[in-house]
Amino acid sequence: MEPAYSCRECVRLYGASLFPFSRSTEHPDTVTEIPEHLLKRSRARKGGGDDAAAASAGSAVEATGAAVSAAPTGPAALAAAAAATPADKPAAAAPPDPPYIAAAKARKKMPIWAMGLVACVPVWALSYAGTMQQPAVEDLLYIDAAEVYNVTGGCAGCHGAAGAGGAGYAFSNKEIVSTFPNPVDQMVHVARGSAAINGEPYGDPERPGGQRVSGAKGSGAMPAQKDALTQVQLELAILHERIVLGGDDPTTPANVSWIESVRTKLEGGDTSPVDLDLLLSCADPTMTPGATSDNPDRTDCPGGEAGGGEQAAGG
Ligand code: HEC
Repeated sequence: MEPAYSCRECVRLYGASLFPFSRSTEHPDTVTEIPEHLLKRSRARKGGGDDAAAASAGSAVEATGAAVSAAPTGPAALAAAAAATPADKPAAAAPPDPPYIAAAKARKKMPIWAMGLVACVPVWALSYAGTMQQPAVEDLLYIDAAEVYNVTGGCAGCHGAAGAGGAGYAFSNKEIVSTFPNPVDQMVHVARGSAAINGEPYGDPERPGGQRVSGAKGSGAMPAQKDALTQVQLELAILHERIVLGGDDPTTPANVSWIESVRTKLEGGDTSPVDLDLLLSCADPTMTPGATSDNPDRTDCPGGEAGGGEQAAGG
């Protein structure tokens, strides 16, 4: 918000009306001398044309004030003086302020500290933009999933906010998908916890690095979640571990089907508790100790149409 005119210009243009009683030292020609000067000029015009060419234009300009009292010396000096005069000198009777100048003079001035606030705006904008970037996905489903993982289920406390591991195993770089190819086996493991199957193998036997053995991490047990979370919350936490932290592809047919089923339950306000028996009936016996495999049609199995033990039925 630059002013339309500089302060210097303002003083030049309106100085006379702003400070009617001051005499400018820069501009010795003051209002009261104008008539005198005009007199001199007309006098000079009558008797002009003598040796005035000797006077340089520069000195004539500097001596404008002096030239008023001294007799003008020639046309060049006079021309210079005449040219200098209107620019340097305010009009004898300053015109009344135009409305916008009057308004500018009358309005309340902005306090100087406000500039500090204005200077803070870019900093605020940057930090605001930073917070906007936090949820990479604006899908409410993923926001809720992150909340269960980080807050409701407290999983982040032992597995890390980015899934890099801690007391519990890491999920990142598809680690979790290589342990549990299908979400439903992971649901069973999280729901009943590791102590319930302490010492038993679980997860994919073909897993690189070997099949997991419960309790082998040596940093305590994975706490059972079946009474702490609802079925939807359990699936949301696992969805976050697999898709967001583990980097599994959400566009595979199995994942599309599973994600949509979680979304439907979430949007329907489903608060059903975890049904461990149902989960065990859907799980793969090669990966989940105690899996009953007595649900070959996979009716009611969470994890989407292809999300459970499709291979399990054969194995
Ligand atoms: C108190 C710490 C703690 C909390 C909280 C916790 N876990 Fe664990 N989790 C562990 C430990 C320790 C293990 C490994 C136990 C073992 O040695 O078998 C584990 C193992 C797991 C595994 C098996 C991973 C693999 O690759 O074998 C999964 C899946 C898992 N946790 C998911 C979760 C989820 C989901 C939550 C939140 C609802 C959660 N954990 C909360 C400590 C925790």
